[in-house]
Amino acid sequence: MTGKICMVTGANSGIGKVTAEKLAELGATVVLVCRNEDKGRKALTDIQRTSGNAALELLVADFASFDSVKSLANDYLRGHDSLHVLVNNAGVAELRHSTTVDGFETTFQVDYLSQFLLTNLLLGALKKGAPSRVVFVSSISHFSGQLDLSDLQMAKGYSVMRAYSRAKLAQVLFTYELAKRIQGTGVTANCLHPGAVATNIWGRPLGPLSFLAKFGRLFLMSSEKGAETSVYLASSPEVQQVSGKYYDQKRERRSSAASYDQVLAQRLWDTSAKLVGLA
Ligand SMILES: NC(=O)c1ccc[n+]([C@@H]2O[C@H](COP(=O)([O-])OP(=O)(O)OC[C@H]3O[C@@H](n4cnc5c(N)ncnc54)[C@H](OP(=O)(O)O)[C@@H]3O)[C@@H](O)[C@H]2O)c1
Repeated sequence: MTGKICMVTGANSGIGKVTAEKLAELGATVVLVCRNEDKGRKALTDIQRTSGNAALELLVADFASFDSVKSLANDYLRGHDSLHVLVNNAGVAELRHSTTVDGFETTFQVDYLSQFLLTNLLLGALKKGAPSRVVFVSSISHFSGQLDLSDLQMAKGYSVMRAYSRAKLAQVLFTYELAKRIQGTGVTANCLHPGAVATNIWGRPLGPLSFLAKFGRLFLMSSEKGAETSVYLASSPEVQQVSGKYYDQKRERRSSAASYDQVLAQRLWDTSAKLVGLA
């Protein structure tokens, strides 16, 4: 990966931090995107030390704000004209219904809409960097996801799993639609389930019962194992030409029936473009 620039979002903890670390070990220049500057600086120092690679950069962005995502893209494009790998990894599962500064249900914006915006804003740089790759860290929970474009706020009947599985289904639909639209550009787009991984994400959905997450960790895989498929899709020559696929444990798998609905994918794209303010 020497000479390649890889951007990893949510790079200060869990699967994202290990993904950034492994790509740094492979020699890439890695741009860590973190919501909190202090956490980001600590991750950057840790990864520089463990990987022995000094070519790391930190950009700060909150995916619950489209302005912040636009600033992130502008900050990146001020310093670089191309990008080789974008790992859309940042994600959250909000226990209770909440609304972002842009007025959208938080999990949907952080886990999907902001990734749609960032990926589109960086598409020109990815095309310049071709062959290049976009990787989406989705989840097996997309299998239970239902996407009703007329009720994106989910104001009634909210549950963390409904919101999370819906956002993860939107990610898979977006992956396939993006792969179709960028066919022939040298940019690929794939998505994945990382496994059930012992990370901070399990604390929030359990709310007051989050102490259970500590026991649950005994049954979950490590972040090192959980990052394997992200690193594989981001760097392996085996999948350089593969696009529009869903992976689990480094193997191509079929995703849910709903995720192959091409009409829904197109409607989702058009709706998302309007919501994030893209032409
Ligand atoms: N762990 C699993 O079992 C599992 C299973 C399936 C899919 N996934 C997916 O894997 C990805 C990584 O999650 P993880 O398990 O490694 O959990 P994690 O350790 O909690 O990492 C999530 C990352 O996303 C960042 N993030 C959250 N909200 C953000 C926001 N508004 N703006 C910017 N960044 C934000 C977090 O930043 P802070 O540290 O500042 O909060 C953190 O860096 C997620 O997309 C998740 O849905 C995980």
